[in-house]
Amino acid sequence: MQFIDLKAQQSRIRSNIETRLNQVLDHGQYILGPEIKELENKLAEYVGCKHAIAVSSGTDALLLALMCYDIGPGDAILTTPFTFIATAEVICLLGATPVFVDVDPITYNIDPHAIEKTLTDCRNDSDFTKNIRGIIAVDLFGLPADYTAIHQIARQQDLFVIEDAAQSFGATYHEKQSCSLADIACTSFFPAKPLGGYGDGGMCFTNNDDHAAKTRSLLVHGQGSHRYEHIHIGINGRLDTFQAAILLEKFDIFPEECLLRQAIAEKYTLGLRNHPSITTPTIPEHYQSVWAQYSILLNDSNQREHLQKYLNEKNIPTAIYYPIPLHQQPAFKALHSKPLPVSERLSQRIMSLPMHPYLKESQQDMIIKAVIEGIA
Ligand SMILES: Cc1ncc(COP(=O)(O)O)c(C=O)c1O
Repeated sequence: MQFIDLKAQQSRIRSNIETRLNQVLDHGQYILGPEIKELENKLAEYVGCKHAIAVSSGTDALLLALMCYDIGPGDAILTTPFTFIATAEVICLLGATPVFVDVDPITYNIDPHAIEKTLTDCRNDSDFTKNIRGIIAVDLFGLPADYTAIHQIARQQDLFVIEDAAQSFGATYHEKQSCSLADIACTSFFPAKPLGGYGDGGMCFTNNDDHAAKTRSLLVHGQGSHRYEHIHIGINGRLDTFQAAILLEKFDIFPEECLLRQAIAEKYTLGLRNHPSITTPTIPEHYQSVWAQYSILLNDSNQREHLQKYLNEKNIPTAIYYPIPLHQQPAFKALHSKPLPVSERLSQRIMSLPMHPYLKESQQDMIIKAVIEGIA
């Protein structure tokens, strides 16, 4: 059994992907070929955003979003510690400072109350001299953060909001698609993501014409009116034409795959929610997760270790996202972050089960049965 079975998906659409790749080989526009624009147009329409800008990875999408706001030394960005390193890494790469804010114990996403408290604490702390400019919220495991509350704070405090939607392309929040929920949204096409390519890739989404124009410039070395005029210090952040061609084929079956993920998540929840030692995911009203991961909470790390070993013996792969919250990572030691108890506790208890659209019903039954047996 695979944790994420990319081969099953490939066997379904392989010939279409080959046709698409052959078309790229025929036209030979490997850099910014027509498939890039086609993908951007399709994804912008799906998300309901004016601009979609294809980039080289989810990490670069986040970096470019911050570069749009000229983030640099002296600036600080509020973000969650319960995420993949890329979310905060890009802040440091620009010389700015991440300020970690604890997460909500039910959704595992950045807690709006904790954002308000952190802002007050920073402003009352005479040693804190940074200029807080924005918030990066993460839609963890495919579930959007609470953008209504986040935007309310951001408006009051004159902060921008970036949606790290690396895991949530395809999710919805109050009938709006993920990637349309902030000033700039960033997704990832890493192969294991709900919409994943066969290599690295990502996309920025925005309704703001200035941000869109600046992102397009920044991702080709700050290009100006022609190829060798440079109006910004930028990066090489383009998506490959080959990846766009693959993603176009994968996008055709994506809505159906979202429904399959949803059905699997429902079955897991039904099978596991009554167990006294398991907490299954809670999806608040008006939210729809895309189930990048299906993650349960166990009582503690000992129970998790025991269960993971048991499942491993039965050839059921599991994963832990994330075993060390970012504020406790050696790379962020110099920040001397305060303890963030919710994130710390989650990192001890969380465990993800196999999740992909081609997980058979018999496999789902076997996993549910084994999880229950393995805890007992
Ligand atoms: C929450 C989050 N942010 C950012 C990224 C970075 O995306 P990429 O791997 O495409 O650079 C990831 C990918 O793993 C992620 O899960």
